[in-house]
Amino acid sequence: MEGRTPIIAGNWKMHKTRAETRNLIKELAAGLRINAPACEVITAPPFISISDAVEETRNTQIRVSAQNMHWEDHGAFTGEISGPMLKEAGCSHVIIGHSERRQYFGETDEMVNLKIKAAMKHELIPIFCLGETLTQREDGKTFEVVKDQLIRGMEGISSSDPTRLVIAYEPVWAIGTGRTATPDQAQEVHGFLRRELGALVGIDFAAKVRILYGGSVKPANTRSLMNRDDIDGCLVGGASLKSEDFLGIIKGTA
Ligand code: PGA
Repeated sequence: MEGRTPIIAGNWKMHKTRAETRNLIKELAAGLRINAPACEVITAPPFISISDAVEETRNTQIRVSAQNMHWEDHGAFTGEISGPMLKEAGCSHVIIGHSERRQYFGETDEMVNLKIKAAMKHELIPIFCLGETLTQREDGKTFEVVKDQLIRGMEGISSSDPTRLVIAYEPVWAIGTGRTATPDQAQEVHGFLRRELGALVGIDFAAKVRILYGGSVKPANTRSLMNRDDIDGCLVGGASLKSEDFLGIIKGTA
């Protein structure tokens, strides 16, 4: 973990109204005032709650991420939100290529690549998600799949600042299933991704990029995951919706 500040990010998905967003952030902020976090804390509420979240997180250590974005700045793309809009709303990060976007909304590696580039252009930090399905794992294709996603997602990207890119390894079979990858399984892929990223953009750069694990992270399994060399934090779904659980996970990074 040399020099890499851990990150705990909560992906709220399609949960929480604006009022619920404000309440949850108030609870988190209160918890973090008592126990200062040893990590960066990020919450990703639905688009419509972003402004509320930004307001409630003012003067706190919590930063706000979007869950998706379009790669164009503006245009006839009904239902979409652009980088400049997120930036203006006060987002610092944006989740890109989540497996649910890939699975249910037809997001391809090419789209993911365009989004990562657009996020960087607008000084939003992309949280670039990738991971294999259960069938791919059972077929022994995990490394091939994540390498391919990494290479395609990173095509043409040469960032000079490793703190401006976050990668999240999220095995699809572990998301929302209660079936967490073991620390060994996660570390194996994280180490592989860091080596492959090194080959793509340079070893020094890769050594400083935070690689998060996501998939059924809970307070009880955070510490064992975080103890591993190449696991620099977690992207949390279900357990980010309750302040007690999310605060428990944040504590697990101490
Ligand atoms: P989960 O979701 O923690 O509910 O498994 C993780 C994610 O989808 O980012």
